Amino acid sequence: MSFAKPASRGTGQDGALRIGVIGAGVMGTNHGRVLAGLPHVELVGIVDPLPEHRTRAVDLIGCPTFTDLDGLLAAGVDAVTIAAPTHLHHQIALTCIARGIHILVEKPIASTVEEGREIVAAARAAGVTLMIGHVERFNPAVAAVKEAIKGEDILSIAITRVGPFPPRMSNVGVVIDLAVHDIDLIRWFTESDIVEVQPQLSSAVAEREDIALLQFRTASGVLAHINTNWLTPFKARSVTVATRGKYVSGDLLTRQVTECFGFQPDGSYSMRHLPVGHDEPLRAELIAFVGAVRSGGVPAVTGDEGVASLEIATQCLEPTVQSQAAQDRKKPRRAAG
Ligand SMILES: NC(=O)c1ccc[n+]([C@@H]2O[C@H](COP(=O)([O-])OP(=O)(O)OC[C@H]3O[C@@H](n4cnc5c(N)ncnc54)[C@H](O)[C@@H]3O)[C@@H](O)[C@H]2O)c1
Repeated sequence: MSFAKPASRGTGQDGALRIGVIGAGVMGTNHGRVLAGLPHVELVGIVDPLPEHRTRAVDLIGCPTFTDLDGLLAAGVDAVTIAAPTHLHHQIALTCIARGIHILVEKPIASTVEEGREIVAAARAAGVTLMIGHVERFNPAVAAVKEAIKGEDILSIAITRVGPFPPRMSNVGVVIDLAVHDIDLIRWFTESDIVEVQPQLSSAVAEREDIALLQFRTASGVLAHINTNWLTPFKARSVTVATRGKYVSGDLLTRQVTECFGFQPDGSYSMRHLPVGHDEPLRAELIAFVGAVRSGGVPAVTGDEGVASLEIATQCLEPTVQSQAAQDRKKPRRAAG
């Protein structure tokens, strides 16, 4: 594969970075809205083949739209964010990389680990910035948990990410759609690789798994657990981390983070609320992407990290590690007695 020279790190007016968005669905529209408000960024436009999604982008953001990627590339961009359906990430990313364009790819990086690796290799060979949209890292509550456990001896992590079925079902289940966020957080909190995976999955209503209880062990010896499903009538997202000296818990929706510490032999301890910022996570993520493009430095979430999280999520779905009991949960169950 041959590559164009990497795009300049700001060719717009007064050196603004010219950025395009690919996909005007739920995430792409949000990318466009946020990018339109960032200083020193020129939102060149949003690509989407669906006329109604382009119209919505014009109404909400007031930016130019394009029916296909070629139209956006012809307008000239330094960077793009890719928020098209996951199965298109690979092809779109490789096209942009070949043109020397810096890219932010929504999570998960691609449909398969092999495709993810190809994106990473191509970006490296072309010398373009590649960042992955694991936006939860930019949730101020998550950042407060990360700060609270800095330097601590982490023992275990438990994450809950549950809610109702999404309005539109994509072709992935809860592991790829939701748990991949938390796999990334476990790797980031522990700064260690996941080396053991014990998944329990069930497809109670949907074709793909809609309940997942996932257990992990990291190379550093941390035990971690993710409870995720689409069968809870309300959204809940929480993280707890037990370290030798602290117990930190964060609600990622209300953004309340507390820590228990100073454990005494009589069972008493102290507790305090931790300060949490107010940033919109997507805004913080896109600011980090723009910063990485401008500096040419390592982005906040690298392609390798995106591939590593996808690889663990994929392992959770391998039939060899899944229990057979996961099959056929669709019939209503009646308690005995
Ligand atoms: N970071 C997060 O929290 C988060 C949340 C939701 C979705 N996502 C990810 O974002 C991506 C998009 O998800 P979504 O929920 O916005 O989906 P969506 O279905 O709402 O949007 C996808 C859009 O891409 C458009 N599209 C289809 N083919 C295209 C093409 N060739 N070129 C350009 N656009 C094309 C579709 O018409 C649609 O408007 C997925 O990879 C998903 O995993 C991330």
